[in-house]
Amino acid sequence: LIYIVDFGGQYAQLIARRVRENNVYCEIIPYDEAVDRIKKNNPMGIIFSGGPNSVYEEGAPRVDEEIFKLNIPILGICYGDQLIAQSLGGRVDRAEVREYGNTLINFDTASLIFKGTKKESICWMSHTDQIVKLPEGFKIIASSESCQIAGMADEERKIYGLQFHPEVHHSQYGKEIIRNFLFEVCKVSGNWNMSSFADDKINEIREFVGDKKAICALSGGVDSSVAAVLVHKAIKDNLTCIFVDHGLLRLNEAEEVYNTFREKFNMNLIMVNARERFLGKLKGISDPEKKRKIIGEEFIRVFEEEAKKIKDAEFLVQGTIYPDVVESGTKTSATIKSHHNVGGLPEDLKFKLIEPLRELFKDEVREVGRKLGIPEELVSRQPFPGPGLAIRVLGEITEDKLNILRQADFIFREEIKRADLDKEIWQYFAVLPDIKSVGVMGDERTYAYTIALRAVESVDGMTSDWFRIPYDVLAKASSRIVNEVKGVNRVVYDITSKPPATIEWE
Ligand code: XMP
Repeated sequence: LIYIVDFGGQYAQLIARRVRENNVYCEIIPYDEAVDRIKKNNPMGIIFSGGPNSVYEEGAPRVDEEIFKLNIPILGICYGDQLIAQSLGGRVDRAEVREYGNTLINFDTASLIFKGTKKESICWMSHTDQIVKLPEGFKIIASSESCQIAGMADEERKIYGLQFHPEVHHSQYGKEIIRNFLFEVCKVSGNWNMSSFADDKINEIREFVGDKKAICALSGGVDSSVAAVLVHKAIKDNLTCIFVDHGLLRLNEAEEVYNTFREKFNMNLIMVNARERFLGKLKGISDPEKKRKIIGEEFIRVFEEEAKKIKDAEFLVQGTIYPDVVESGTKTSATIKSHHNVGGLPEDLKFKLIEPLRELFKDEVREVGRKLGIPEELVSRQPFPGPGLAIRVLGEITEDKLNILRQADFIFREEIKRADLDKEIWQYFAVLPDIKSVGVMGDERTYAYTIALRAVESVDGMTSDWFRIPYDVLAKASSRIVNEVKGVNRVVYDITSKPPATIEWE
């Protein structure tokens, strides 16, 4: 176990990724709980993240100095580096020259942390403060032209500080440096992987649940699917999955869920057809936030009704993943997603929670899914919003509009796949704006709907750019949509990034 102490840096999750890529398990913890958690769980190493503050400011985040006496190796990055210096008797001041971006740095390659690197290397810097006086026992191990102490170490106590960011990929030997810290300094074994994770979890769940019953709200998305299959491996038929079909799914989606979980995995699966119920509630509603609220509430109601029918279920399986936990759990992280996922159930449901994926990042969840034999199509599925097509039919929702959108969206996805772009594009879909326009077909004037196509590249959905789809792929999708989907006479492609637009249109 490695702990990453989060001081509010935008890169804490990235550090965690880098550590896990080395098959080393790590967790991000808030700075004000750090010492307690470290004493309790005795990690093999500690990494201090960067952060937006100045260490000499009043109220700047700090850790109890006891941390330096625990004999556990520490690597401080940027703010973390400066905090080590300040805490151990060095001095930090505003830098005369602010360094930002790729910077040439000289390494002392005799230091254990730079093992296998070259003397000169380009590293990613982003700082306004710098260390101006070393703490006692430390020596300089890296310098740039305007930052003399770009790296420092007390090799005896195994405490290292770096002003640059080894976790970002612009830093030339970043991976080596992190590996050196893990394997040379902390001497971890590096045998954590997704197969062992899945096996351990299955045993753990089996022990935790015993012969009691559990239920799971299956959405057909990656997270709930992997969570459900994992728990099913542990407790077999004592798990019942509930799939609520709210009528806002894509073409064939409900059938695919049935085929995968009922036919392939032979799981207890209740398919609830609540299409009319949802459409009824949404009748006449055109405000996007109202639609979201109605769908969220109705989902909970339907799920509760179904759950009640399953006698003596004590446990509830949820597909919570690590970014959800980090985003909502630490005081220091700046970005909080406002979307409430449909399927996010209220806390007062009287169940004990099973959240087997709480510690995993998305691509680790996908890897577990593959190990469990879940089909690749499902495992690598693009994100799909909980409220589904309700926020892609703009304005009031009708069955007719949903059907048009479903067909157009299906054709677009098919063409993207045929062009082999489905792995490259982060999210792609069709939208039905609430407009009709004039067209001509044969000798006839038409007055029909417009379909907008959206395809974006993104890492986490927080920002995105529109994907440069080749013209011939767009042309094919467009002509197929107007020819094959009745009620559509025009297709447009959305060429806005986020910000200022959002990915979805509502
Ligand atoms: P936006 O439109 O905010 O979308 O740029 C960012 C990502 O979030 C998805 N999204 C949602 N997911 N419930 C969800 O579960 C929602 O209400 C919701 N709204 C947007 C969107 O598909 C994109 O991946």
